[in-house]
This record gives sequence, C-alpha cells and structure tokens, in this order.
Amino acid sequence: MSPAGIAITIAACIGAAAAIVFFCWYSNSKLGVSKYEIDSSKITLPFRIVQLSDLHAKRFGKKNCRLVKTVVKLKPDIIVFTGDIIHLYRKPGEDAAIELVEQLAKVAPFYYVSGNHEMRYKNYREFSKKLADAGAIVLENEYVMTHGVALVGLGCAHLKNNKIFEITPDFDTYKILLAHEPQFLRRYARAGYDLVLSGHAHGGQWRFPFTDQGVYAPGQGLLPELTSGEHILGSTHMVISRGLGNSEFPLRINNRPEVVVIDLKHGDK
Ligand SMILES: [Fe+2]
Repeated sequence: MSPAGIAITIAACIGAAAAIVFFCWYSNSKLGVSKYEIDSSKITLPFRIVQLSDLHAKRFGKKNCRLVKTVVKLKPDIIVFTGDIIHLYRKPGEDAAIELVEQLAKVAPFYYVSGNHEMRYKNYREFSKKLADAGAIVLENEYVMTHGVALVGLGCAHLKNNKIFEITPDFDTYKILLAHEPQFLRRYARAGYDLVLSGHAHGGQWRFPFTDQGVYAPGQGLLPELTSGEHILGSTHMVISRGLGNSEFPLRINNRPEVVVIDLKHGDK
C-alpha cells in the first residue's frame, strides 16, 4: 500500500473509532427529556410530574449536577422515583442515591418507591431510612394526597400479590400508582388506576433504530411490549420510563437515559 493509502486507512479507522465512542457516550450519558400531556375530568388542579427511574447509582456529572440541572429547568410540582435507585450486583452506590435525593428534595416533593434491586438489598431497611432523612417521601404500600389526586406507592415485593387491591383508595378521585415493574399493567388497570408510572425495563436495553422496539426486558423476555412510552388499557394510562442507568446489561445502545415529564390537565375524558 502506498504511504497515502496507509494514511487514509489510519484516518478512516480513527474516524470510525471516534464515531463508536461518541455513539456509546450519547446512548449512555446524554440525558433526554420525554414529555406527555394527559387530560382527565378528575384533575382539578393542573400540575407537572417529573419521573426518574432506574438510576442504578449512576452519576451524570459531579454529584449528578447534569441530572439535577435538567430537573430544575423542568420546574416540577412533584418528582417521583420509580425504583432501582441503587445497584445490587455492583457496589450498591448508596452515596450517589442519597446525594441526588438531598438535592432534588429541595426542588419539589420527592416521592420514592422501591425496585427489585432495593427489594433484594440486605440493608434496604436502613437505606430507606437514609432516603427519608435525605428528604424522600418513601411510599411503601401507602398513599398520599397531593394536588387533589391520590398518589399510591406499591413496594416492589408486592407487585404480584393482592396488596395492590388492599392499598388502593376506594374514594372517587384521580389515582396515580407508582410501581416499578410495568408488565403487570392488567392488574394495575383492574385495581382502577387512572395513571401508572413504571420503569424497570430500561427501554429493552438495546433499541432498534427508527422503531419503538427494545431487545430484552426482565420479566418480559425478548422483544418486550412494555419498555417505554405511553400505553393505554381501558381507562388506565401507563407511562414507562426507560430509566437512567444500567444493571446486568452494561451498555445501552440507541437508548438514551430518560427524564420523563407528565403534565396533568383538566379535560373532558
Ligand atoms: Fe433497573
């Protein structure tokens, strides 16, 4: 090969490597914001929810400054976190979780439910107290009233049993459920929720380009149906966050970390 040919080959290899590195960084560290607007005649006081999920102890900048800045800019009325704030199988990362909660609880009320990583964490009881001390409102099979709606948190250990039917308020108000795993949508709808916010599926980890299809989700297997976006079953809306960090799959492909925004408004439906 001529010297010019060698130079062109080396430049092409460097360019391809740089493109791959950028694509991996973009897929794993460039925060995206997804916005939804949901109307209901039961909403009397419009408000904005920012949903975060599946941090898995990841940091976006020092002390998660990029994530905090993104949330602050969105001006939430409440923030909800739908499980897996730590990472069970690597270093749990309590510090990353606590420092994020401390900052965001000053922005808006911060509601938290557990995910499967917390459920299996041997120090979860102590850790949930630390979350509460940092300013989180930990909803473990209980509800609070906020902005005229009932906000219910279902602990991850109870997704498959009848606890959901015991803890669902029976009065006629707009009901929002925070439940980590989305694949029980039918059960959540049967319990009468207007809106369910979930995470867990990480968008299917690797996503096919130009489609809404992920490759794999725990509990759903290959080519899963419920990994991101808005789904409607009867009168129940579900919004699934693709989450922020990684767990067993170490790398997201074509699947940016996601901050979800939901504007709830009064409407005719
Ligand atoms: Fe997760």
